[in-house]
Amino acid sequence: MTRAIGDVILDVQNISLSFGGVKALTDISFDLREHEIRAIIGPNGAGKSSMLNCINGVYQPQQGSIALRGRTFRHMNSRQVAEMGVARTFQNLALFKGMSVLDNIMTGRNLRMKSNLLLQALRLGPAEREEIAHRQVVERIIDFLEIQPYRKTPVGKMPYGLQKRVDLGRALAMEPQVLLLDEPMAGMNVEEKQDMSRFILDVNDEFGTTIVLIEHDMGVVMDISDRVVVLDYGKKIGDGTPGEVRGNPDVIRAYLGVQH
Ligand SMILES: Nc1ncnc2c1ncn2[C@@H]1O[C@H](COP(=O)(O)OP(=O)(O)OP(=O)(O)O)[C@@H](O)[C@H]1O
Ligand SMILES: [Mg+2]
Repeated sequence: MTRAIGDVILDVQNISLSFGGVKALTDISFDLREHEIRAIIGPNGAGKSSMLNCINGVYQPQQGSIALRGRTFRHMNSRQVAEMGVARTFQNLALFKGMSVLDNIMTGRNLRMKSNLLLQALRLGPAEREEIAHRQVVERIIDFLEIQPYRKTPVGKMPYGLQKRVDLGRALAMEPQVLLLDEPMAGMNVEEKQDMSRFILDVNDEFGTTIVLIEHDMGVVMDISDRVVVLDYGKKIGDGTPGEVRGNPDVIRAYLGVQH
């Protein structure tokens, strides 16, 4: 293991979010340390996706604050949060199904494109060079995720498990410091889950990316996360290492309650 867990990179403090009468999140606080893999678990409707949506500026919580590297951000939209180095994948894939793998991953570079659209359209000098540089980054990501045979394939024609991998590639193309993954293994078979686990660990290890991972498969969570936050009905009921969380009576009760 080459990575070492560092200082707090993201600090979530006392976040509360409601939709009309529905309290999706109640007074949630947790921190995220540089280079760690932090899982968020909990039963359906616990507030996991809502938490990610607060972090990346899709939802504006009614209370609380979120700080990235000590800088508190309030009322930032998702583009501004992305520009601060936070990327995410979606529980329901947000890819362009008719577009190739290459072009989908390229959309992740949009934030980083400096040249204006007119220059790009005319393919004049600097814009063309910039396009080539972006393509090289995208090709490296395609190699890294082992999807070279699908470079030109429309995403909608790929097996579901590989589509999830392309969604990860799109997020990686932003070269994020913090990567938020919302159920990247949902709907996958055992082998596909193993592959995705390996890619997540490799991203964390090779690029030093800090990762927040929402996942229902407890085996995966116990295997690859450093620390785990447990939500239930919008409240935090556990926070600690996988071993600590597994032994927490409130967590056990929440999960037994779901199964019976
Ligand atoms: N845009 C919205 N409008 C109204 N209610 C919402 C909205 N988004 C989430 N909720 C509600 O907030 C609560 C938490 O939902 P959320 O999607 O965050 O849960 P989750 O833990 O991600 O669940 P799952 O495991 O099923 O993905 C639920 O009661 C949900 O119905
Ligand atoms: Mg969800």
